Amino acid sequence: RTRLVAELVSDVTAASTAPAAPHGPQQDVRAWVASVAELTQPDEIVWCDGSAEEKQRLIDQMLAAGTLVRLDEEKRPGSYLARSDPDDVARVESRTFICSEREEDAGPTNNWVAPAAMRAELEDVFAGSMRGRTMYVVPFSMGPVGGPISQVGIEITDSPYVVVSLHVMTRVSDEVLRLIDAGQEWVPALHSVGAPLADGATDVPWPCNETKYIVHFPESREIWSYGSGYGGNALLGKKCFALRIASAMARDDGWLAEHMLLIRITSPEQRQYHLAAAFPSACGKTNLAMLQPTIPGWKVETLGDDIVWMRPGPDGTLRAINPEAGFFGVAPGTGVDTNPTAVATFDRDTIFTNVALTDDGDVWWEGLTPEPPAHLIDWRGNDWTPDSGTPAAHPNSRFTVAAAQCPTIADTWEDPAGVPVDAIVFGGRRATNVPLVAQSFGWEHGVFMGATISSERTAAAEGALGELRRDPFAMLPFCGYNMADHWAHWLEVGAGVDESRRPRIFQVNWFRKGDDGRFLWPGFGENSRVVEWIVRQVEAGRGLRDDASVASPVGKLPAPGALDLDGIDVSDDDLAALFEVPTEPWLAEADLTEEFFAQFGDHTPAELRAQLDALRERLAGS
Ligand code: GTP
Ligand code: MN
Ligand code: MN
Repeated sequence: RTRLVAELVSDVTAASTAPAAPHGPQQDVRAWVASVAELTQPDEIVWCDGSAEEKQRLIDQMLAAGTLVRLDEEKRPGSYLARSDPDDVARVESRTFICSEREEDAGPTNNWVAPAAMRAELEDVFAGSMRGRTMYVVPFSMGPVGGPISQVGIEITDSPYVVVSLHVMTRVSDEVLRLIDAGQEWVPALHSVGAPLADGATDVPWPCNETKYIVHFPESREIWSYGSGYGGNALLGKKCFALRIASAMARDDGWLAEHMLLIRITSPEQRQYHLAAAFPSACGKTNLAMLQPTIPGWKVETLGDDIVWMRPGPDGTLRAINPEAGFFGVAPGTGVDTNPTAVATFDRDTIFTNVALTDDGDVWWEGLTPEPPAHLIDWRGNDWTPDSGTPAAHPNSRFTVAAAQCPTIADTWEDPAGVPVDAIVFGGRRATNVPLVAQSFGWEHGVFMGATISSERTAAAEGALGELRRDPFAMLPFCGYNMADHWAHWLEVGAGVDESRRPRIFQVNWFRKGDDGRFLWPGFGENSRVVEWIVRQVEAGRGLRDDASVASPVGKLPAPGALDLDGIDVSDDDLAALFEVPTEPWLAEADLTEEFFAQFGDHTPAELRAQLDALRERLAGS
């Protein structure tokens, strides 16, 4: 499997296929690999197969290089800690580009550079970028290999950390090469940490480059990533492929690629429903994906915590899969009190990145336990005590773990045909205005809810509205084309799904605050009460029960008594405040929405402008 570059290049040349430039439309995998090798000049090429031996070999290599630290085998079997370069800890939105042919197709919310200009820049930075390193060729599938909703890609990377992470987060398999040989479309994804090694130079544990590029060519479905080893920048199957490139594919082919969690809900009557929910980063997707209901008789099982692909199915339903194979979750704030399911999931065989190390060889981060240990090695590798005054774990430290290890994983999570979606939920972090839960009046109103997702930038003063940070569909950093065209695409996909099985759309807000600044809703497991009402409303839509809602200007709210509050301590005043729809602040918010829509010019669908008018009319009449 290890091959000399010269050998591969000569093979390809012998087959009289001159190596093509490493970009452009669909091409032969081997010719692409050879052309990348010519450009980046690695010492050797390794074709990966996703086997356990391959993973162990790379882990051993990283232990020797100091990239990984082995955790205590009793406390955290099969688990490792990686400490990144302190300047390579998160996605870099300012260096993320959507290089569509036309600037208009990237839209006002993406960075755009003309493809030809960007290609010239990339060829410069990638030239010789893998010198002294091994180039790994990783065939992977997003979704079960060969499934009707799945897609495949090949990531070339010079980072063993990336290969091992891809083993967890995607399905790495040489079966993918056979699918490509049989004619399946594939996404070329090129990654380099951008740190060539001079002859005989010793490596650092986390090579990277100050200059970073996270580049997408949506028309030719290509990804080029340079300079970073961090997950969102380097595991190209995830945000780059499964969201940015896939959203462009989905627009062209009539499906949806979304920043959503996916769960299966079983009611006390043993009826099963599926819910997909889009919340911006750090707004609770992983938490809701692993929800432990506090109300009797209800069960929630996990299918995915970050990305969902949905496609109208042959039976008239909207079918969804989780294209990933693992969870790459935020560590801080994840503890036994907030997400015991996650804690049980990463009890073994997990890679932790940028968390703190305990004296007995285990991991710790803020929120894992209520009290910090007396001494730690912090995420930068320095001694740490509770008096240090700095966080022990980086706020964006992460766990990387196979989804199969999740104790609440649904037995259908790998069904290639996907599961039928019954409810779609949008949510942001709103201290004011947005009620705990509201049902949309219909699909178009639901798309309006998705298009207007926002969080307050600052804590709002009483009665006033804080500055709103818009994150439409929770896709602001992840949409591979014009965001307003994404709204139009949603309108179209909805119209193509049978009305009787079309998902109902809801909006939730776990984060509304009282005048005293405290959260009005207990959240976490108690969110099962909101999920229950959502399911009951889906059932009402199918004639299985009466509708239990009352109309408000912003949507249908739970009718008095319809939300189960047995056994929780939410005062009548707090309940009223959770559902208050104050007219003046909402009119002010409608003005901000008009400005927001105007940014997209003619791309904003007329249906959404009509929804805004209708909202204003309902507010005026209230
Ligand atoms: P990405 O993985 O980055 O896309 O984000 P995510 O949406 O998965 O976010 P995650 O679940 O990691 O969000 C965690 C944050 O949301 C933490 O600060 C939690 O405390 C908070 N959170 C989650 N659910 C609730 C809730 O019901 N109520 C409150 N108040 N906070 C919550
Ligand atoms: Mn995410
Ligand atoms: Mn998450």
